[in-house]
Amino acid sequence: MARINENYAKLKAGYLFPEIGRRVAAFQKANPDAKVIKLGIGDVTRPLVPAVVEAMRAAVDEMGSDAGFRGYGPEQGYDFLIDAIREHDYASRGVTIGRDEIFVSDGSKCDSGNIQEIFATDSVVALTDPVYPVYLDTNVMAGRTGAAGDDGRYAGIVYMPTTAENDFTPALPKEHVDLIYLCSPNNPTGAAATKEQLATWVQHAKKTGAVILFDAAYEAFISDPKIPHSIYEVDGAREVAIEFRSFSKTAGFTGTRCAFTVVPKEVTAAAGNGERIALNGLWNRRHTTKFNGVSYPIQRAAAATYSSEGHRQTRDIIAFYMENARLIREGLQRAGYTVYGGVNAPYIWLRTPAGASSWEFFDRLLGTANVVGTPGSGFGPSGEGYFRLSAFNSRANVEEAIARIGRMPAK
Ligand code: MLT
Repeated sequence: MARINENYAKLKAGYLFPEIGRRVAAFQKANPDAKVIKLGIGDVTRPLVPAVVEAMRAAVDEMGSDAGFRGYGPEQGYDFLIDAIREHDYASRGVTIGRDEIFVSDGSKCDSGNIQEIFATDSVVALTDPVYPVYLDTNVMAGRTGAAGDDGRYAGIVYMPTTAENDFTPALPKEHVDLIYLCSPNNPTGAAATKEQLATWVQHAKKTGAVILFDAAYEAFISDPKIPHSIYEVDGAREVAIEFRSFSKTAGFTGTRCAFTVVPKEVTAAAGNGERIALNGLWNRRHTTKFNGVSYPIQRAAAATYSSEGHRQTRDIIAFYMENARLIREGLQRAGYTVYGGVNAPYIWLRTPAGASSWEFFDRLLGTANVVGTPGSGFGPSGEGYFRLSAFNSRANVEEAIARIGRMPAK
């Protein structure tokens, strides 16, 4: 008889965002007149910008003509997109990335979830806590952990608490670890690592032989000019880091799907016999075996975000969301909340009031203000007592949500 992967039984019942969706649907069913405002999942709300729509349309027309039709494209992505990425995301910041070091894909969720496949099953994984749940869950599925304890921590994972107490700057792990997941600007805390902080991680990885898996999906939201947008702005990072980037939040592609992963040729890990193997080749092998490339019209659409028009239009939308973030941050502060993030990231991270647990506050906010957010504990045990609001919504909804939260009783 076929047998299941028992590691799935170790996972918490549901992935965080579907679980929130389920609770919200139940609330709406019981309260059909409530006008619920969703600041939960970080899903964009503004339409694709005109430059992107035009490029996508033109590419669809090409595909509908004899001369322009294309079948399978290169699994790693078309050169027109890869070259635009190299020039605008990297060369413009003094970073040289080779064509064959970029792998275009359909999302950073998939890439940051799949990357663990190229590492040994007994690799020790270090995670900042709280963090985007995909990193943990995919390692649980792969069997790199024991069961979760009563405190919500999985045996075998090295948790690096990242809270207000350490100014959202996790300490280097004391024990040996093989894989270090970092996310900056951070989902969910909104904290962004400085160049010095990233340099500390790079030095640590070089010293210990660890590989850094750096998720920069939110780099477009950085407003502080001193904060690096890529880990490769740090000397030596090419030897130890893989970077994930996405068009999802940058250009409203959550439903359109396009992202990329950078695997420099220098980054290696050891084979069983001690030989150093380039991860670029392994990821290329995995990618070409399991993925057939992002569709041509979507890659043309992604490339259009780098034209001068496309860039200006997408920057306008990011500015719009960041103004939402400012309104949320300042509105919460006026209402007496302790608030973090929202300056270099589209997420606002707040302390739940009066000792309420994250899920208690979720229920209270939904029940009293009809506003949906994300409980901090859903991102890891150290997220307990925190709560995340996202800046992705219309201005009217953000203003209304903040007004309602302001009217909520303190307890
Ligand atoms: C989030 O809300 O954390 C993100 O939308 C999840 C994602 O990007 O997959």
